[in-house]
Amino acid sequence: MKRKNSIVFFFLVLLAGNLFAKELPANKTITKLAFGSCQRPEKGLGIYKSIAKLRPQLMLLMGDNIYAQSIEDKTKMYQTLKDNPDFKKFSDKFPVYAIWDDNDYGTQDSGAEYPFRKESEKLFKSTFNFPKDLERDGIYQSLMFGGEGKRLQIILLDTRSFRSLLKLSSAPLQIGSYVHNEDKNTTILGEAQWKWLEGELRKPAEIRLILTGFQFLAVDFHFEGWINFPHERERMFELVKSTNAGGVIFLSGDRHMAMFLHESKNRPYEIWEATASGLTHALPDTAPIEAERNVDGKIYFGLNFGFLNIDWKNKFVKLQLRSEKGKVVREKKLTFKSLHVAPEIK
Ligand SMILES: [Fe+2]
Repeated sequence: MKRKNSIVFFFLVLLAGNLFAKELPANKTITKLAFGSCQRPEKGLGIYKSIAKLRPQLMLLMGDNIYAQSIEDKTKMYQTLKDNPDFKKFSDKFPVYAIWDDNDYGTQDSGAEYPFRKESEKLFKSTFNFPKDLERDGIYQSLMFGGEGKRLQIILLDTRSFRSLLKLSSAPLQIGSYVHNEDKNTTILGEAQWKWLEGELRKPAEIRLILTGFQFLAVDFHFEGWINFPHERERMFELVKSTNAGGVIFLSGDRHMAMFLHESKNRPYEIWEATASGLTHALPDTAPIEAERNVDGKIYFGLNFGFLNIDWKNKFVKLQLRSEKGKVVREKKLTFKSLHVAPEIK
């Protein structure tokens, strides 16, 4: 009887762990997917009803997937997420892949110094889709879908586990807290992840989505972002260029608002980023915000998620930001051509 109970328990644990484990076969051509970030499951996750209506083939979570500071609270909050009926219904149907940001990884704005990062990593890997046989320090991984001519690569970065300390401004700033850390010995990804990323970018793919918890392209905001470590940001551009990796689009979260960002000057090609945040809480449009030269168009305030359509035949990507109800609030059409190095200057 005891043995029977333990077998039942074992299968229950397996089932519990399987809540998010719905995976897509690699040969599947992806034409539509959703993305979002910053959710407090305890607030309710009705927004997933709007996302489900669009029938994405997969959902990408870009961090702050729960908010909890201690490991004990993180454990509880992941359970709250798993138990949420809207999310359960959604994740039973659509595969969910995730990266983390500060509030699910550790504490506010934390990096490699967070003392419980291994415990947090274990929790994360047992919650979201992460290859069971992949022994890895950190949560980065990559996915590749579709056959030649229709390959979509999804690169899920870990921008927390190895990140050096941020540099606080010595004088109080009006908005935000951080200034550039010019020390070349500091890092965001850490050497092992950089090396891995180079190998990934060398793999052939028509479109690549690079997921980063905090923003990649923003340069004027004094919040967390790749610009906190300018040499790491430049290294990313250089790597995209040296590997001749075409089709890169960055997806990010963190900001509790939604926007498109764009940079092309001295870059291998048009580099775009979509920030979609948050799914359950967003800043009001009265929130003080600095001018940011890389923002394209207007920032959207209000609950939101992102949606991406790929038209493989006509070779363009439709990048959308949508409201809580699923209404398109911003849209950008990017041709494959604009996302690749022009042949003549290759
Ligand atoms: Fe957040």
